[in-house]
Amino acid sequence: MNAILDGIDLSDRVCVVTGASSGLGRESARALAGAGAHVVLAARNGDALRKADARIHEGVDGARTTTVQLDLTSLASVRAAAATIAQLVPAVHVLMNNAGVMFTPFGRTENGFEIQFGTNHLGHFELTRMLLPQLEAADGARIVNLSSEGHRLADIDLDDPNWERRDYDKFRAYGAAKTANVLHAVELDRRMSGSGVRAFAVHPGMVATKLARHMTRDDVAAVAELPEQREVSGEREFSKLEVLTPEQGAATQLWAAVSREIDGTGGVYLADCTIRSDVAPYAIDAERARRLWQLSERLCDQA
Ligand SMILES: NC(=O)c1ccc[n+]([C@@H]2O[C@H](COP(=O)([O-])OP(=O)(O)OC[C@H]3O[C@@H](n4cnc5c(N)ncnc54)[C@H](OP(=O)(O)O)[C@@H]3O)[C@@H](O)[C@H]2O)c1
Repeated sequence: MNAILDGIDLSDRVCVVTGASSGLGRESARALAGAGAHVVLAARNGDALRKADARIHEGVDGARTTTVQLDLTSLASVRAAAATIAQLVPAVHVLMNNAGVMFTPFGRTENGFEIQFGTNHLGHFELTRMLLPQLEAADGARIVNLSSEGHRLADIDLDDPNWERRDYDKFRAYGAAKTANVLHAVELDRRMSGSGVRAFAVHPGMVATKLARHMTRDDVAAVAELPEQREVSGEREFSKLEVLTPEQGAATQLWAAVSREIDGTGGVYLADCTIRSDVAPYAIDAERARRLWQLSERLCDQA
């Protein structure tokens, strides 16, 4: 079991984890199941999902899991997944919006959204919106959005979120999507805290997963040279940043999901199992969070 969950009994909880077929999502799902939760593993690749589920059952005696097909690049798939989850369980105690893609070549989702914004933010925005009744029913639910220190690469352009009037930049598009993940948590928390639903944004650290699958060697060098990346790395050289295992990397999102230390808080950015104030100001700006929410609602409603 992940050390963060030592001594914690989640046998009365339902936890939904997106991107549970790989990396941080797979490790989080395993750890939550190990603590007794009923875990709903949501991912798009059916084979990888079945393998991740089988691995949990090999390691956790009596694990309670359900797998649900979810492709965040299709709002029809997102809505179908939410409807399936709503039929399965009356309440969701933890929604871990973990799935993500990074530095993808330019592309559009089924609904015409830029791929990184569409997958990392809008797909999760719609999933969360559809699951609000189940989250409210949990009486103290938490929503955990996986963001990244990469949010410092760019703010979201609220006038052109889908890169229709600018040349595409895959680094800035990732930064914008990860900024959107923080802003989403800020506005969700503002709207929902009265119903006992709290939302958090998490940076997991630099973790050895398949996330960098779209990166070439040239990209690694280019990212290391970006002025914004120096802010991410601080004084340390990019290539010398500590790389964590998925088990180590999942610690902060698990902490966000269950820790009593953050009871009564929300709409904040977490890293290294602490609340961090060193987040880019544009990512926690309440007015921008409100505007992104309205824009996301409009884009999803029109799609
Ligand atoms: N690893 C790091 O260093 C790091 C650092 C900062 C933040 N993060 C964040 O952590 C989160 C998890 O990333 P990871 O490192 O665990 O990467 P990963 O190993 O690549 O896992 C990403 C997961 O997201 C799923 N996914 C991608 N596109 C999807 C879609 N359209 N619909 C449904 N699922 C989709 C993937 O499924 P498929 O196999 O089907 O693609 C996979 O299960 C991401 O949000 C990432 O931005 C990671």
